[in-house]
Amino acid sequence: MEPVYLDNAATTPMSEEVIAEMTDKMNHVWGNASTTYSFGRKAHTVMEDSRQIIADSINAATTEITFTSGGSESDNTAIVQTAIARQNLGKHIITTAIEHEAVLKPLQYLESQGFEVTYLPVDQNGNISLSDFKNALRDDTILVTIMMGNNEVGSRMPIHEIGELLKDHQAWFHTDAVQTYGLLDIDVKRDHIDMLSTSAHKINGPKMIGFLYRRNGINFPSFVKGGEQEDKRRAGTENIPAIAAFGTAVSVLTSAEKRARQTKYFEFKNRIINGLQANGVAVEVNGEIKPDNLNHVLNIWLKGISTYVMQTNLDLAGFAISGGSACTAGNLEPSHVLTAMYGENSPRISESIRISFGRYTTKEQIDAFIQAVTKIANRLTEKSEVS
Ligand SMILES: Cc1ncc(COP(=O)(O)O)c(C=O)c1O
Repeated sequence: MEPVYLDNAATTPMSEEVIAEMTDKMNHVWGNASTTYSFGRKAHTVMEDSRQIIADSINAATTEITFTSGGSESDNTAIVQTAIARQNLGKHIITTAIEHEAVLKPLQYLESQGFEVTYLPVDQNGNISLSDFKNALRDDTILVTIMMGNNEVGSRMPIHEIGELLKDHQAWFHTDAVQTYGLLDIDVKRDHIDMLSTSAHKINGPKMIGFLYRRNGINFPSFVKGGEQEDKRRAGTENIPAIAAFGTAVSVLTSAEKRARQTKYFEFKNRIINGLQANGVAVEVNGEIKPDNLNHVLNIWLKGISTYVMQTNLDLAGFAISGGSACTAGNLEPSHVLTAMYGENSPRISESIRISFGRYTTKEQIDAFIQAVTKIANRLTEKSEVS
């Protein structure tokens, strides 16, 4: 059997049309977009066409889109540069305990520089409470950075409500939409979002390309310093083939396509849980299964079976899933997300796996996965009963 890839929250394969677009532009549009002769003008046009597709996809203007090297750079830029630009207005920042490291690490850096960060707790479903948020908000809060949806358990944060609450507050509102972009319709104007981070490799686009949306009027100096590319907002010669391919990846994600994927992934989640339970496997969902969550991510607790053992056995059986947090391959550090949800002493921390679906995941693969987990679980449980 071909190996089955069920770790699409970590990264996705490039689609055929993305590879075709990228190959075409690598062959034919390799000029430097900052130059004024024909090679550069051609590159510039390709880049601006892609920027238009991307701006439209979140109801933004093209002047509000800066291409970056991906989610991590977008998050770092929004967070660190906001803090630097606004420190005279206050030094307080609000976030959640379950953000990706691309948000948590720059915040830790800012804490070392004298900023104060409030980490909103989550409940057992991975949700924050709006009243906790309201209580945390202060006159000296300069930045609120709250992810749109979580990469480990798929819970969604109340972005619209937070945007509304911040409308008349000085704090800028940034959201990490890396897992949400391409799966849900996003409208930055409707939700009063000031800054938003995305990444192409989560939506069958190339790696090392993403964008930072920055509402017109939100100004801070470039994080990457050097040339004057991207309207002086991000130095570095633009990667035209990757930018063009990112546009292609976005253009196939119509609202109807996104809805269809959410529905398909929701069915996969239920199929896995019901299938495992029917086979007698002791399993529980970490978080909850509900249609509005990010349905491409399913996190399950396989009672009594260590994450590492299950992940290794699944790998040997030909299935790629995530054992630890986020997209750090081979990282089996205890998940800070599960710890925030269940406490550090919960057995879930060391007995859970994340399965994530993508465009090419099929029902047949899901059924094969259920059988594989069942077989491994039965074998491991028998062994531990004998010993
Ligand atoms: C929620 C979230 N934010 C940020 C990132 C980092 O994105 P990138 O890999 O493009 O730097 C990831 C990657 O897994 C993610 O899941």
